[in-house]
Amino acid sequence: MSDQTPVLRLEGIVKTFPGVRALDGVSFSVLPGEVHALMGENGAGKSTLMKVLGGIHAPNEGQIFIAEEPTVMTSPMQAKAKGVVFIHQELSLADELSVAENIFLGELPLKGLGRVDWAKLYADTDAILQTLNVGFDARTRVGDLSIANQQMVEIGRALTVDPRAVIFDEPTASLTDAEKVVLFEVIADLQSRGVGIVYISHRMEEIFKITDRISVLRDGQYRGTLNTAETDEDEVTQLMIGRSLDLSRNESHHQMGDIALEVRGLGCGSLFQDVSFAVRKGEVLGFYGLVGAGRTEIAETIFGLRTPSAGQILLDGQEVHISSPIDALRLGISLVPEDRKSQGLVLSMNCRDNMTLPQVDDLTAGPFVSDGAEVAIFDQYRDKLDIRTPGWRQIVGNLSGGNQQKIVIGKWLSMRPEVLIVDEPTRGIDVGSKSEIHNLIRDLAAQGFAVIVISSEMPEVLHVSDRIVAMHSGRVMREFTSDEVTEDNLIQAISGITEKIA
Ligand SMILES: Nc1ncnc2c1ncn2[C@@H]1O[C@H](COP(=O)(O)OP(=O)(O)OP(=O)(O)O)[C@@H](O)[C@H]1O
Ligand SMILES: [Mg+2]
Repeated sequence: MSDQTPVLRLEGIVKTFPGVRALDGVSFSVLPGEVHALMGENGAGKSTLMKVLGGIHAPNEGQIFIAEEPTVMTSPMQAKAKGVVFIHQELSLADELSVAENIFLGELPLKGLGRVDWAKLYADTDAILQTLNVGFDARTRVGDLSIANQQMVEIGRALTVDPRAVIFDEPTASLTDAEKVVLFEVIADLQSRGVGIVYISHRMEEIFKITDRISVLRDGQYRGTLNTAETDEDEVTQLMIGRSLDLSRNESHHQMGDIALEVRGLGCGSLFQDVSFAVRKGEVLGFYGLVGAGRTEIAETIFGLRTPSAGQILLDGQEVHISSPIDALRLGISLVPEDRKSQGLVLSMNCRDNMTLPQVDDLTAGPFVSDGAEVAIFDQYRDKLDIRTPGWRQIVGNLSGGNQQKIVIGKWLSMRPEVLIVDEPTRGIDVGSKSEIHNLIRDLAAQGFAVIVISSEMPEVLHVSDRIVAMHSGRVMREFTSDEVTEDNLIQAISGITEKIA
């Protein structure tokens, strides 16, 4: 590989924002036909480096070379014209437009008199969708698609040109296992055509499965490049966070209290049926299953976002009727949603206000919101969750993706609910912070909170839960205590291989 010309090369890139040195002299190159991972903690500078490459941010210093030709990138359009295409971490699709219009936005095929050639547009789009093996067509309105399918549209958009390099910024964060398989096939195909791939992800299994080399950033600085075949998770983690991780379970042997939340025979149309479980104060109850098993919908029903069609919800032994999130919050139930971008944050507001938004009522003394109290809350959770930001005044939209997620988690934690439901708590969060969040969940239970953790990552549920509910297509298949659960019987339960055990 060494005598090949890199498809792209970045040399000594410096990028500063007010109060932040996001990139501090970073160099990075990608060879044709290689998958090159870019790794680092939340806020390390990965997305910023790729935005410099894509002409979204102008660097303060440094040089970009495309096929060894010095290039000044001024816009994503120009980057695309040079064969460098991006699948960004934040989806940037227009909800009101069709899949076809989104994929060919800015380059719609025209026929005479500047009119759009719709037939060609739909045919070209369907050809791309076919390679992605998706279940929707060119005419579908993007706003009607799931987040995972929107991600596939974003990927489709990159395939409208014959690319030289494709940059994937956390592409699998919301994909199902089947969609991941398709994505990895797309990547392998690009690779075999000599395209250079940059792959940003916090998921070690993926990194070790599909990449050739791994480059690591820490606090905006380049820490080194490793050959994937010659390294391991521990070495990469060391480089990323400067220490190894203690992955042993934080065994807090605390007393469990009374049942905080109980659900009996809960159902919601065809989404899930006959769901019963209870969670005690001081307990972490894990919900494990494949994407689409109905776990998120159960959480949404308990939180008042959906109306149940059957069953009861009891809090402290009393039946309650929850018809809106406001009811749920009043009763002491919080939900940290799965899709934090659209459900949890106001991107144009500062960090403090985002975190304290739901409790402005409680903190208001007369007509004045007590600024000091809000800042204190923000500071407390910034420290607990290790949120990287120059201060509470920073606009949340300027934080790195993972740090934005921590703001949402802090927001719900700071309300000190009695029952806390967290849906995919560590999606998009780096390995170091991931274990901090796991410890935090265990701590919350030790303090007497009842916690429900929904996760698609088996090591995560196994690690944090006292008991695990396994779900398959809208039904509870089995409940496990932490003593009896094994990876095998858990997989069997969620894939529907075993019969439901009542
Ligand atoms: N537009 C901006 N204005 C101000 N600061 C910014 C802006 N964009 C990024 N930053 C800051 O630059 C640093 C690097 O952020 P970046 O998004 O590159 O991190 P990342 O490595 O992609 O993290 P993650 O894994 O969380 O996505 C962070 O401290 C972030 O807050
Ligand atoms: Mg990022």
